Amino acid sequence: MKTENEIRAEILERVGELYASREAGRKFVPGLDRVHYAGRVFDEKEMQALISSALDFWMTLGEKDIEFTKSLCGYQGMKYGVMANSGSSANLLAVSALCSKNFSGHLNKGDEVVTTAAAFPTTLNPIIQNGLVPVFVDVEADTYNIDAKKIEEALSEKTRAVMFAHTLGNPAEMDRIMSIAKRHDLFVVEDTCDALDSRYGGKLCGTFGDLSTYSFYAAHHITTGEGGAVLTDNPELYKEALSIRDWGRACFCRTGEKNPDGACGRRFSHKFEGLPDGYDHKYVYSNIGYNLKPLDLQCAIGVEQLKKLPAFTEKRKRNFSALYNALKEHKDFLILPRAYEKADPSWFALPVTVREEAPFSRKEIVSYLESKRIETRMLFGGNILRQPGYRDILHRVGGALTNTDKIAEGTFFLGVYPGLDEEKLDYMISVLDDFFRNHTNSREAD
Ligand SMILES: Cc1ncc(COP(=O)(O)O)c(C=O)c1O
Repeated sequence: MKTENEIRAEILERVGELYASREAGRKFVPGLDRVHYAGRVFDEKEMQALISSALDFWMTLGEKDIEFTKSLCGYQGMKYGVMANSGSSANLLAVSALCSKNFSGHLNKGDEVVTTAAAFPTTLNPIIQNGLVPVFVDVEADTYNIDAKKIEEALSEKTRAVMFAHTLGNPAEMDRIMSIAKRHDLFVVEDTCDALDSRYGGKLCGTFGDLSTYSFYAAHHITTGEGGAVLTDNPELYKEALSIRDWGRACFCRTGEKNPDGACGRRFSHKFEGLPDGYDHKYVYSNIGYNLKPLDLQCAIGVEQLKKLPAFTEKRKRNFSALYNALKEHKDFLILPRAYEKADPSWFALPVTVREEAPFSRKEIVSYLESKRIETRMLFGGNILRQPGYRDILHRVGGALTNTDKIAEGTFFLGVYPGLDEEKLDYMISVLDDFFRNHTNSREAD
């Protein structure tokens, strides 16, 4: 009879063979196969890690959570990490931790948070969901980032925090934002969901503010299928984010804690006001929480993906440059993306805005690309205040949202993810060339 280890090794070897056989049959047919804007990039290592974790059949958070959290915190140079089931949940945890009554500097209902309206909805939603008031400032037309020059004039005595995304991987103007935050005693939450491995002044995005969030959905820089994380250097915020993720409980034992008396060794000997003496710490709730945990299976994939991050980043940069170079001769018709001098972006995608004076509309170029099976996306909600679900939200606007509206009207983005190889990039560039040849000449001849 074979041992468990022998059987496991055989299964994993077969998984490797399955991956290799699928890859051998892969072929790209231009014009027929979709050119995705993003997608999961993996090899047999991720598949084997997933299957190996499945064979353990532990399923909920365990050893792989510890390993992935440690390696992500190590990569980012941050002290504490809380894994979540999505980037949206990570944002919810970050803002909820800031609002936890147990946090010494906590925000109160009605306090204001400066943010942008050219946003992914779940960067904004936790502000609303926690009873805070978003104050919208405009973004820049070419960096697509919060216009840091506009933050100060939007502040009131109620403003307590700034929360924004490094848009599509392009680092926000961090030195200006951090000095404003310091001057006005504001918390900073960096939504780094689209910007893992992007840097500003040589420092990784997500390492400037009080909390940073990450998404590991399949479209992102690394993937666990679905998944996310919150990182912080603040032990208080870490404790509250963990509690809120895990039903709001006061106990910080990991799932499957071996010591029946809890990690603290005092599970039945705490005294909490209003509760019977020695009430089981596992069932003491210090926050009104959720269950936003991912599975260990996802963390197992994350461990392998993180090892590939530097190679992914290199490819993202290469792909961005190739498409940027192809588009730059059309800058009279398109606003091309700009990064700050100090920024070193690992782009999530390449955004462009069709200028008002261009002889074609966004609808025309997007429809053309999609008809050639090249995927495009809008810059999320455009101006989220114009979205049906957001028309009645309590908010304040700090200055005109002129560029935000320009984005709603004219911006779309193209993929630069590591799954785009030279063949696909060449195809994209030839389709773009065709479009510009047809649309710029024909209108000029009118
Ligand atoms: C900037 C930003 N924040 C948050 C999220 C939400 O992440 P998730 O899809 O993992 O919930 C996304 C999603 O793509 C995003 O782009």
